Amino acid sequence: MDKIVVLDFGSQYSHLICRRIREFSVYAELVPYDISSEDLQKHSPKGVIFSGGPSSVYDSKAPIPDDGIFNLNLPLLGICYGHQIIVNKFGGKVKRANKEYGSSLLTIDSDEDLLNGVGESVRAWMSHGDEAEVIPPGFQVIGHTESAKAAAICSKEKSIFGIQFHPEVVHTEQGTEILKNFVLKVCGAQQDWTMKGFIESEVEKLSKIDGDVLCGVSGGIDSTVTALLIHKAIGDRLKCVFVNNGLLRLNEEKEIEEMFKNNFKLNFTSIDASNVFLSKLKGEEDPERKRKIVGEEFISVFTKFAENSGPFKWLAQGTLYPDVIESGVSKGPAAVIKSHHNVGGLPDWLNLKILEPLRELYKDEVREIAKILEVPEKLFMRHPFPGPGLAVRIIGEVTPKKLQICKLASKIVEDELMEANLYKDVWQAYAALGDDKAVGVVGDERKYGNIVMIRVVDSIDAMTADWTRLPHGLLEKMSNRITNEIEDVTWVTYTISSKPPATIEPQ
Ligand code: XMP
Repeated sequence: MDKIVVLDFGSQYSHLICRRIREFSVYAELVPYDISSEDLQKHSPKGVIFSGGPSSVYDSKAPIPDDGIFNLNLPLLGICYGHQIIVNKFGGKVKRANKEYGSSLLTIDSDEDLLNGVGESVRAWMSHGDEAEVIPPGFQVIGHTESAKAAAICSKEKSIFGIQFHPEVVHTEQGTEILKNFVLKVCGAQQDWTMKGFIESEVEKLSKIDGDVLCGVSGGIDSTVTALLIHKAIGDRLKCVFVNNGLLRLNEEKEIEEMFKNNFKLNFTSIDASNVFLSKLKGEEDPERKRKIVGEEFISVFTKFAENSGPFKWLAQGTLYPDVIESGVSKGPAAVIKSHHNVGGLPDWLNLKILEPLRELYKDEVREIAKILEVPEKLFMRHPFPGPGLAVRIIGEVTPKKLQICKLASKIVEDELMEANLYKDVWQAYAALGDDKAVGVVGDERKYGNIVMIRVVDSIDAMTADWTRLPHGLLEKMSNRITNEIEDVTWVTYTISSKPPATIEPQ
């Protein structure tokens, strides 16, 4: 398989370069900027890209690549900071300039190679401080903007290109074309990265492992695809365990069992631990404590199963590529953004080796595999669901009654959105409730009942979210059904707080 290696100099867009390239079926991998030329060679790349980054080549601690990389005679594309590294390295001059953010008009001066077929000018996304003032000998300017005279340069002889703008962000018109020109035309990479091919090679790799594999499944797409891939390779040496914590969506545990046992025919155990979870949560009102209890209890149930049903050699996890990057494993100067993912680290309480067949993949690639493996669409179209389940959607103590109301009301919200063909358009949709009560009239009687909060949000990455402007008629229908069909609910409210300052989940 042909590969493009992207050196990560810490830009927030670094991983987008890989995504864009993979979208046109060439495998691209992000590696730390300080990879040695020997290690880089082990990847057998068809070409190398230097990402952007927050540094200036004049910083005393500016990240610089191993000099040996320039002697490998590989096609090279530098983006933003990567462009400045190239200018600096080959004898040009980088100057400190006014910061430039946003879109600029890039005029194409030479439409061969990199900028072939993109037109006379395009809008290009800039985000930089320094810029190239003098280009290195042997290089030529192939594109400029009003403020950056050397916004795109190349040395045809060396197959080295530098661009000041970011082709990987959607705001750059023809950005994908520019990356395609580099990857397909300059590097000559084959478009052989397909999910069918990935399944074949991964199953082949997995079939060589010895010993039994334990996989915790949640019914979510990542753990499901992980289990299916491993099962394809080693059959019943894979044991899947599902812990029903009693905090799932209505009938979810039954659907999961049906899918794994009857559809997929995996070696599957469902543990109904709902009573234990609920008794541990009894009386607990503090949100963080509730999360902790759910997490700890899960580990306890899971460990018991592992100890009693083994011996296992491997623990399978549905870690994805963004988790790997976020956990700082890529060692780019972007530093560690989150440390909560269990990436690359062994849970020492089990002494198992970690198996992560999806760790090279993005979510959309996992969805594609799910389709190929005939995972029911319902599963991979389902909205994200928090690990601690309904414990974070029930404000205050989790009681069986509040749980039941939360499950039934959420089902109504989901069903009505599906009926209105809006389910796929929103990020998350559910009902939450706390202990507040409000007066209603049921029949001829006054009733002091529960208040249900409907929460529907739009988002692209859960970092920020906006409340969804649902049609009033739809909200009315949801509200009517909730008060009519669920005993003890008298009021229904719609949450209109965005994130920030609110969060998506109430706890
Ligand atoms: P918040 O409430 O922080 O949620 O805006 C952002 C996204 O994360 C999900 N979420 C969780 N997912 N474990 C998870 O696996 C958790 O503890 C957790 N808490 C929140 C939430 O549903 C939303 O998609």
